[in-house]
Parts: sequence; structure tokens; C-alpha cells
Amino acid sequence: MTELKKKIAEEVAKLSGGAVDASDIAASLEYPPDATLGDLALPCFKFAKVMRKSPVMIAKDFAERLSVAGVAKAVATGGYLNFTISGEYYAEVVKKVLEKGEDYGKNEDGKGKVCVLDYSSPNVAKPFHIGHLGTTVIGHSLKKLHEFSGYTCVGINHLGDWGTQFGKIICALRRFSSVESLDTAGIDDLVAIYVKFHEEAEKDPSLNEEARAEFHKMELGDAENIAIWKKIIAISLAEYKKTYDLLGIEFDSYNGEAFYTDKMQEQIDLMREKGLLTIDDGATIVNLEEYGMPPCLILKRDGSTLYPTRDIAAAVYRKRTYDFDKCIYVTSSGQSLHFAQWFKVVEMMGYDWADKLVHVPYGTLSIGGAKLATRTGNVILLRDLFDTAIDKCLSVINEKNPDLENKEETAKAVGVGAVVFYYLLNGRIKDSDFNMDDALSFDGNTGPYAQYTYARCSSILEKTGELSCDAIRYDSPYEFAIAKTLSRFGEVVKNALREHEPSVVTRYILDVATAFNKFYQECRIMEKDGTVNTSRAMMVKATRTVLSSALSLICLKTPEKI
Ligand code: ARG
Repeated sequence: MTELKKKIAEEVAKLSGGAVDASDIAASLEYPPDATLGDLALPCFKFAKVMRKSPVMIAKDFAERLSVAGVAKAVATGGYLNFTISGEYYAEVVKKVLEKGEDYGKNEDGKGKVCVLDYSSPNVAKPFHIGHLGTTVIGHSLKKLHEFSGYTCVGINHLGDWGTQFGKIICALRRFSSVESLDTAGIDDLVAIYVKFHEEAEKDPSLNEEARAEFHKMELGDAENIAIWKKIIAISLAEYKKTYDLLGIEFDSYNGEAFYTDKMQEQIDLMREKGLLTIDDGATIVNLEEYGMPPCLILKRDGSTLYPTRDIAAAVYRKRTYDFDKCIYVTSSGQSLHFAQWFKVVEMMGYDWADKLVHVPYGTLSIGGAKLATRTGNVILLRDLFDTAIDKCLSVINEKNPDLENKEETAKAVGVGAVVFYYLLNGRIKDSDFNMDDALSFDGNTGPYAQYTYARCSSILEKTGELSCDAIRYDSPYEFAIAKTLSRFGEVVKNALREHEPSVVTRYILDVATAFNKFYQECRIMEKDGTVNTSRAMMVKATRTVLSSALSLICLKTPEKI
């Protein structure tokens, strides 16, 4: 629809004698809430001032004079100009989807540009809990949206792989278990030993000192502690990868915080050179009062570096290594201040790319409804959430479709997809509450409903077999509705990327599914005698193509049968 909008806008700009810019007009073209009004609407209030006429008169005047290929009708209603798009135009949409296949909806806005995305980034040896769902799936969806828009993307898992938690685990291993036990340990054992440390340290606070000392040894490069640290990382990564596999996520780099240990001094020196550093109560800080923010902490009293120090060094490293045009960080909104602070410091350091750093925050996720088992007290592990969803899906499949092949694989795709879809349906900033039963319902606005619609398209096409058809015909409003919905895909992608908002795609998927299911109910694709209405079969194929791309943009898999 983008091209047609552009054409309409150019024509209207001409009619208005250049009163408003064509790009401005294109941006203000809306989809009317009520389809009987037309397919597109232009509010004419903007023109009134410059043209010195009422919006009502302007709309009328435009309606009389406008002629654009693809527009069947332009009608003035109050201060709005409503356009009805021609059947030929929509026929072209379906053809275009079929022609372009998986490239349909892509754009080249990011051609030749690099986008670095820092997401998921769990803290090693601490539980990978539901708080990480947001960063993991929003981050990956943004990566896919950028790739879809022509960017070269680098996905970085900025692991929290350095810090006192390692000292705690080492201390607890020595005291309450054994270092050798690590050789057969899994993530649960790590979390258990971490929990054990905290329990014991409650009783005996001197353990905290001991843990700090162990970490300090690590910082000094103590071979034994470094070897333990490496094992802990390996155990954690193996576990995370299981979750990433379920989601179909791979990272280009796992350079975590530890990687930047030797890259901070250069930046600290630069800050000093630029006169940005002051000492406050023994700590080294950058004062940000002028910008209405608390100071950014660079060095602790004991000279050790901090979270922002590592982030600054990492940003410089990434700029040098990848020469990014955009570097995105996806974290909970609890870290918004942290990012605002160190982005500002990067700017003050004189790096002219500071404005290319983008923080994408998201709200808090809580869990209502079904109680989920957790092995770690009050946090809910992401893996447990997925496992529960997968189990429930499997039992639904066993009940409804016991002969299905690849039941386990399908249950994984649908169970994980249900969780992700439910989560990505809401705007990212809002806090949300997770309800397993709602997420898994097959007839709500859910992942299973969307995936099921995709599978239905596949099974129809399996029956109709390979076909070709030159002429797409529209015999009903249901067919038009599909073409209209599919025509919006390219814009949806652009909007989602601009707002860094995967929910734009999720909601669109529901529009496609709804349009399709109405069409499927009302229109015969195959006659009783087996003759296929090829035009309709083509619409099924086009729908399947768009659903496949769109679902993949929000990290959902597309099983052919459910
Ligand atoms: N490890 C951090 C956490 O779990 C998130 C890291 C985000 N990325 C960054 N470059 N700071 O809270």
C-alpha cells in the first residue's frame, strides 16, 4: 500500500497547489475504522489554514478533481476525503505476494547499514527467569525486523559473566560441596549452590568477605579460580542454549562483561583527559547534574570498575568492530536511567555516534492463573514456563489429534509460540500479567490460533496441489478483505521497526488470521466434485506466505500440521 499512498499523496499535493508536502500527506493517510467509508481516508484539516477554505470544501474540491490509477472512487465526507481502492489494485496485491514469496513485505531502508542488537544477556549462574523473556523475544524480533528491512545485523548476548556472584559460588563450592562436583553439575546445581550461599551468609556474614576475596583472586587472574569460572560459564551457556533452541535464536557473539576487562582503561583515560571525572566520597564519577540525572559511576572506592564502565567500553569496541549505524539495547525499564546516563557520558566523551545508541525498555511480567513449579524459591524460570506450556500442548494434541506425526516437535513449537505470542501481543512498555490458559487457548487471540490458521492454509494447499492462475477474481467482500489486509504488511513492518514494537506485527497477524478465517467460512475453495477455485486457492497461498513471514518476525515457528 506504500506505493499507492505515495501516488495519492503526490496527486493531492498537486491539487492543493503545494499547500502541504506530499510526504506529509502520505503520512496522514489513515485506514478508516469503518470499512464502509472506504479503504483509505485523508483528514483535510491541515490544508485549511494555507488554502483559506474550510476542510469540508477542500475535501469536496479534491474529490471532484482527483484521478489516480488504483483509486476507484474518492468521496468527501465532512472534512475527510475517503478513497475506495479499485479491485484491480487488490488483484495485483495477491499476485505480488505470490511473485515475491518470502521477500514480500521486505524493504531496503537498512541497505548497507549495520545494526547491533544487545539482548537476552542473562547473568551467568543466576537463574534465567521470566524477567528475561522480554529482552530475549523483543530483542530477537527486532533483529528479524531489521534484517527484513535490509540491515546487516549482529546479535550480541552481553552475558553478565563477571562479578561477585562467581566469588559466592566458588566460596560455597569449597565450603559446602566440592570444586570437583562441577564436572557433573548442571544449572540447577549451580543455582542451588548459589541459593545455599545466601542462606549460609545470612547466618554467617563473614562468608560475604570470603566471596569477595575469591572474586578478587579471579580479578587478579588466579588460575584455579579462572578455571572454575570457565566451567560455570560453560554449564550456564549449555543451559541457555536449550532455551534459545526452543525459540530458534542464535547469537553472533557471546562476548559478555568479562570480555571488556582490558578495554576499559583506555576509556577511563579519555574521560580523565576530557575533564569529566570527579571524585565523590572516594568513588570516581561523571557528574550529570546539568542533565538532570544522578552521577554515572565509573570506579568504586577500591578502584574496581562498574556496570556503566563496561558498557561504555563495550560500545566503543562495537563501534570499532562493526561500525554500526544503530546499536540497540533491550532491557527492562528498570535500567532506563543506567542507559540514559552512560549514553550521555559517551556523548560527553566526544564520540559523535552517541546518538546511534538506542535503549529499548520493556515493562514487568508477572504470572497470574496457574501456579508454576519453581526450584528456586520465588523466581519462575523461563524454562519452567516453556515446559509447562509444552506439556499442556502435548496433552491437547494427544486428545484432539493423537495420530499427528512429530507430536513432540509440534508441541514445542505451539507451546513456546503460545507464550511468546501472548507476551508480544501487548505494547512492550506496559507491565503485563501472564495467564497460561489464555495463552494456550485455540480460539482466542493467541499463538495457537495464528499457527493453526497457518496450518489450515497448508492443508488446503496440500489438497488443491500446485496450481497457477493468471486472473485473481473477487466475488465477495471476504476476498477483498484478505487482499486489503495482505497489502498492509510492508507498512506494518516499517511501523514495528520505527517504534521498536513487535506487538505491531503480532496484532497484524491476528488481522490476517481473522480475515482469512472469515473467508474460509464464507467462500468455497474446492467444489464438492473436486474442482478448485484457483483464484481463491491463490489467496490461500498468499495468506500462507504472509503468515509465515510475519510469524517468523515474532519468533514463532510454523508447523504444517497441528
Ligand atoms: N545482564 C544484565 C541483566 O540481566 C543485562 C545486560 C544488558 N546489556 C547491557 N549491555 N547492559 O540485567
